[in-house]
Amino acid sequence: MKQPIERLYSQHTAIMKHSFIREILKVTKGVPGMISFAGGLPSPDSFPRELLARLFSQVILEEGADVLQYGASDGDRFFKQALKAFEEVPYLSDEEIMITVGSTNGIYYFTRTLIDPGDTIVCEAPGFPGSVTAMESCGARLAGIEMDELGMIPDQLRDTLRGLHDRKAAVKFIYVIPEFQNPSGRTMDLNRRREIIAIAAEFGIPILEDQPYRELRYSGERILTLWELARTEFDDPQLVTIAKSFSKILGPGLRLGFAAGPPEMIGPMVKWAQKTTVSPDCATQRVAARFIEAGHMRRHIDWIIDLYRPRRDAMLNALADCMPDGVTWTQPEGGMFVWVTLPPEINADDLFERAIQHKVAFIPGSKFYPAGIVRTNELRLNFSYSDEKLIREGVSRLAGLL
Ligand SMILES: Cc1ncc(COP(=O)(O)O)c(C=O)c1O
Repeated sequence: MKQPIERLYSQHTAIMKHSFIREILKVTKGVPGMISFAGGLPSPDSFPRELLARLFSQVILEEGADVLQYGASDGDRFFKQALKAFEEVPYLSDEEIMITVGSTNGIYYFTRTLIDPGDTIVCEAPGFPGSVTAMESCGARLAGIEMDELGMIPDQLRDTLRGLHDRKAAVKFIYVIPEFQNPSGRTMDLNRRREIIAIAAEFGIPILEDQPYRELRYSGERILTLWELARTEFDDPQLVTIAKSFSKILGPGLRLGFAAGPPEMIGPMVKWAQKTTVSPDCATQRVAARFIEAGHMRRHIDWIIDLYRPRRDAMLNALADCMPDGVTWTQPEGGMFVWVTLPPEINADDLFERAIQHKVAFIPGSKFYPAGIVRTNELRLNFSYSDEKLIREGVSRLAGLL
């Protein structure tokens, strides 16, 4: 008799969860007339298609013998050079930076490097489920810290770390998305960043700083990253590793990102890469290098900012115009998301079912909390995918339902 192959699954495979968000996106995709604020997708209008087509062709014709070969697991040295210039970190050694297959890949290697099954990661609640599932697939437990308008609440972080320490839990790192956070759109100010770093230093626990939206700032001042602060003000270059991505700039399909941190972290992360992806896509890295060297990257980012700023404004204005009393929302200075809080008696999971019937979609906030924290009156709205007209119409439909 045939036996089902599932019985042979490893323990990690057996506990791996389906992504709720992907399930939700399936329900909303391709429905005529649906206005979707659900996905975290960049606008297809933001992809520099002509330029990329030209550069891919040039790279394959001129450097094909090199880029169609196996490449270095830590990334292409020409791309690293261009990247360091673009990021204004020429002083970084090649051992402090690795190119990754999107930032999820870097987050996974960082987790792989530190986590044994049962170890704990402290993260923001609400947080980004994509990273949480990558972390859980390594056997990590997640301890969520609640947020205020400036991000993770320092007192709660300290109390949680103390409690975990008293219970002898192995806390391996703190995971934060300090800018235009997914899902809340919130940004940590400079002081909050300093407070979080000081607590991490006090407990001797490193930080993984996830920064996929950093370049997409529509208002307010640029703030030093935790990674920069740890190196300069705290003189502790081991404390923070940063992961960045080109997904929201060039297109997520290119799967291009990087991680920068101490050689003691980047080294083992590269060893994990050797065993899994072998190397990032070599042609894509050289294309991105040329994109930077020709000065396109800065111009293109400015162009995307001009595309998204009016969309952010349209969403905030539509919320202000249409939403009934008792509904509040965040004021993101960049990124792609607004976080809406409904009156406590309204359940966003139920609202989602009704919203779908009225052809407007969002992600219920409950999907962004780690196990143990239940919140049902919040929701995430994406403003990068739809244009201003659709944004106004979608917000008005949602407000009508409320
Ligand atoms: C906070 C956060 N981190 C990481 C990622 C993953 O990005 P990438 O496409 O670079 O893997 C995303 C994507 O939406 C994100 O929102």
